[in-house]
Amino acid sequence: MTSQYPEHAVPAIRQVMMPRDTNALGTIFGGVILSQIDLAAAIEAHKHHPSKIVTVSMDKVDFKAPVRVGDLVSFFTETHRIGRTSITVHVAVWAQRRFGGGEHAYVTEAEVTMVAVDDDFHPVPVGSVQRS
Ligand SMILES: CC(C)(COP(=O)(O)OP(=O)(O)OC[C@H]1O[C@@H](n2cnc3c(N)ncnc32)[C@H](O)[C@@H]1OP(=O)(O)O)[C@@H](O)C(=O)NCCC(=O)NCCS
Repeated sequence: MTSQYPEHAVPAIRQVMMPRDTNALGTIFGGVILSQIDLAAAIEAHKHHPSKIVTVSMDKVDFKAPVRVGDLVSFFTETHRIGRTSITVHVAVWAQRRFGGGEHAYVTEAEVTMVAVDDDFHPVPVGSVQRS
């Protein structure tokens, strides 16, 4: 688990949560966070392969704290492994409670594996970018 807020790291994505992102209980819908985790991992993976990539796997995601409307949510990424055709990225999610002191709450984290693909969606070596 990510135990400390990474004060000096630059997040791949930082977003204020709006009422449109809520579930029926009024907190933020988990699917919105999952979607942003996927996007943050893709942004990190593109540093190594600035071409077509697809998500092949996202490991178990445990939500440890709710995200609320108005929270500033940060998605911090780190490349964990570069394989032949795959890139595995760690994503840590933190919410800053902007309406209540500004403390940082650890929300969740995930390991996401992306695969570099060609135009026919077949795996290709990471870094083998054809410029058009
Ligand atoms: C991603 C995809 C192209 C991989 O095709 P594949 O025939 O399984 O390819 P391979 O078996 O050669 O595996 C390719 C790489 O992915 C890795 N991989 C495959 N399945 C994996 C899994 N479940 N978890 C982690 N890595 C995986 C392999 O280890 C390999 O990595 P490496 O080359 O770095 O060693 C294919 O599974 C696919 O098109 N999936 C759908 C992707 C998609 O549409 N995502 C969005 C969903 S809405």
